[in-house]
Amino acid sequence: MKYRTLKPFPPGFLWGASTSAYQVEGAWNEDGKGPSVIDVMPSHPEGTTDFTVASDHYHRFAEDVALFSELGLTAYRFSIAWTRIIPDGDGEINAAGVAFYHRLIDALVAAGIEPIVTMYHFDLPAALDAKGGWVNRATVDAFARFSEVLFAEYGDKVTYWLTINEQNMMILYGEAIGTIKAGMPKSAIYQANHHMMLAQAKATNLCHDLVPHGLIGPAPNIALCYPATCHPEDVLAADDFNAIRNWLYTDMAVLGRYNSVAWAYLEELGATPEIAEGDLELLASARPDFLAFNYYASHAVARPSGTESDVAGGDQQIAVGEAGVYAGVTNEYLPKTEFGWEIDPVGFRNTFRALWDRYHLPLLVTENGLGAFDKLEDGQVHDGYRIDYLRDHIEQIQWAISDGVDVLGYSPWSAIDLVSTHQGAAKRYGFVYVNREEFDLLDLARYRKDSFAWYAKVIASQGADLS
Ligand code: BG6
Repeated sequence: MKYRTLKPFPPGFLWGASTSAYQVEGAWNEDGKGPSVIDVMPSHPEGTTDFTVASDHYHRFAEDVALFSELGLTAYRFSIAWTRIIPDGDGEINAAGVAFYHRLIDALVAAGIEPIVTMYHFDLPAALDAKGGWVNRATVDAFARFSEVLFAEYGDKVTYWLTINEQNMMILYGEAIGTIKAGMPKSAIYQANHHMMLAQAKATNLCHDLVPHGLIGPAPNIALCYPATCHPEDVLAADDFNAIRNWLYTDMAVLGRYNSVAWAYLEELGATPEIAEGDLELLASARPDFLAFNYYASHAVARPSGTESDVAGGDQQIAVGEAGVYAGVTNEYLPKTEFGWEIDPVGFRNTFRALWDRYHLPLLVTENGLGAFDKLEDGQVHDGYRIDYLRDHIEQIQWAISDGVDVLGYSPWSAIDLVSTHQGAAKRYGFVYVNREEFDLLDLARYRKDSFAWYAKVIASQGADLS
């Protein structure tokens, strides 16, 4: 539906940008930080760097916050590295790590930028992983304790909290991201999933108990799945994949129960988790204040052809297929990025509508953006392709607002260039260019891209000027 008059962005709308600790900070072993699963990854995809220096934000955060302020951000989403706060995940607290995030948060608050804190973004402490990671139920309590430390330290400065970034991607594509070891059985993966849900529920309840003004929610990656055709079995396959990829996570987080189609899928796999006494009550008790989500593109799927393997394959935005469940297909109506991810701004509006209809909770966009091989020439980066992507998606937020969806804010990926989860430093998303190459760190100097000036104008005009 096209409206004659689009509703404006509401007052107080959060204009943000996002990063995650391990992808931007570097300083992987400094000031008492312990190693995370990312730091001890046995190998990185060929031709890509590790995360040891990343964008050196740990040492340059003050300069970066000054740039965020110049950009006009009213919010900045970042994650706290569990291993800086509690190096082995469940032991001593590291005062130097705690102090770093105080400095960062204080700098943001002084600049009038609302901090949005992700408590856990893929970087599980390696010491916990050695004890079984999320498959080990003890990790639930370790996370709850970590969350209590965060609420006690930063609760008076931080209102917006995100529990777990993209739990669904860690479960479905954990091998690509580096959070799951190759060959792990599905029963173990979904036991880990159950434990993460318990951890999230505990942290949500703790936030409500300990941070009077605190607002907390999950941050899954939500991509609405379209049927490849109107063949009823394609529609069924899309419905199944929506349940397995999206609703399993959001129904649990928001409604406090397992999605029945996803549960049936787990039964079929022989991968239903062990549920201990009290688990279901805990899960039902935790209610988020908002639903955050990361959106890059929709998916399209067809009924399985019989050639799919048992392993999902692909990555966050490329659904290959799974035997007996669905076959990923290319959506012929959509262009693709240089990295093969489809671009679907209208799918963004479709996704807003689906989430709003399902839950009627305020929605916060915590990621959306375009990865590209940007080029620095004479101190400039002409990333008009990124401006086009962001403009088209921001327009669709306004359509969604006009549809009646309550949208709290928009925090695209990424505030500054950082290292991609599995495609290296050359895959850039930032408004600010970081002068490094894949393996050569150069001088790591910061340069404003064309998209920086454009987004500054969007923010200054409260989204009225997208030109
Ligand atoms: C999301 C993650 O999946 O997508 C980010 O939350 C990630 O950590 C972003 O960087 C873009 O993905 P990628 O694989 O291009 O880095």
